[in-house]
Amino acid sequence: MNPPGTENIYLPKVAILDRVVDDIPEVKTFYWRFEDPAAQAEFKRFRPGQFAQISLFGVGEFPASLPPSPTEDETFFTIRQVGSCTAALHQLKPHDKFAVRGPYGNGFPMKDYEGMNLTFVAGGIGLIPLRSCIVYALQNRARYGRIQVFYGAKTPGELMYARDLRAWEKSGGIECHLTVDRAAAGWDGNVGVVGSLFKKPGVQMPVENTTAFVCGPPIMFRFVIKDLLALGFKERNIVSTLERYMKCGVGKCGHCCIGVAYICMDGPVFTYEQIKKLGEDI
Ligand SMILES: Cc1cc2nc3c(=O)[nH]c(=O)nc-3n(C[C@H](O)[C@H](O)[C@H](O)COP(=O)(O)OP(=O)(O)OC[C@H]3O[C@@H](n4cnc5c(N)ncnc54)[C@H](O)[C@@H]3O)c2cc1C
Ligand code: FES
Repeated sequence: MNPPGTENIYLPKVAILDRVVDDIPEVKTFYWRFEDPAAQAEFKRFRPGQFAQISLFGVGEFPASLPPSPTEDETFFTIRQVGSCTAALHQLKPHDKFAVRGPYGNGFPMKDYEGMNLTFVAGGIGLIPLRSCIVYALQNRARYGRIQVFYGAKTPGELMYARDLRAWEKSGGIECHLTVDRAAAGWDGNVGVVGSLFKKPGVQMPVENTTAFVCGPPIMFRFVIKDLLALGFKERNIVSTLERYMKCGVGKCGHCCIGVAYICMDGPVFTYEQIKKLGEDI
């Protein structure tokens, strides 16, 4: 063991893949645990909105959000296959090994939102980082006011976490509003962009004393922010996560910097007020 203060901060710990679950096309959820139970216990202190660095031996390393709530037993990542590292992860089978370091980043200050209404607005795989907060809020239901989820995908088959969505709807603790860009056979829900749900008959969005969490592709983000500001949301009450190319994840390499902010350390969670000050064009 290294003397305190001399540990290698880049050294990931070995993780074992337990099982893989298909979610939507190109996206799978990987249930895993650290080989060392002490590392698992330490990692489980993560906060919703933080991220980790995943290493594939001989291939490389990439950042990924932590979709489980720290209140859940299992640790898992939900990953879309886009390039070499994510493809290597998608090829792993149960019992295969990879490595993880983290958790990193600031995360959502869920304690600060206690007593407030929570409005989650997600598009596509933007639901991955928000899942942690939604489950956390549901498992600490008495601490929050109204909880609403507005979620949109291109097609019904691309709505992520289908089992969770059904469970949240059934729980009675969360109002779930879903939409798709293009309907398919069997879909009798809303068709349109996610912002079209805000003004749907029967939908009432609380604005006062409400934090809005927004995650999704840049085009969706821009339109949703416009809608939320028009409804009266304050810029400081809208929060999101910024995704940037990262290398070290711990404020050393400068790859993730926007102006004076290190997205890996100061973020990835920022209020819209802060995002605007960074001069960030999302
Ligand atoms: C904080 C954070 C959290 C993330 N969480 C998740 C997650 O939970 N699930 C998930 O599937 N992905 C997540 N990502 C994105 C993920 O890190 C990238 O998809 C991954 O690095 C791609 O690695 P690769 O080697 O497979 O692809 P590469 O070969 O590196 O790239 C393939 C393609 O993806 C593009 N790309 C790579 N990284 C990014 C990026 N950060 N932003 C935009 N485009 C990129 C490249 O330009 C290229 O077109 C997250 C990124 C960040 C910064
Ligand atoms: S990723 Fe290296 S400083 Fe942020």
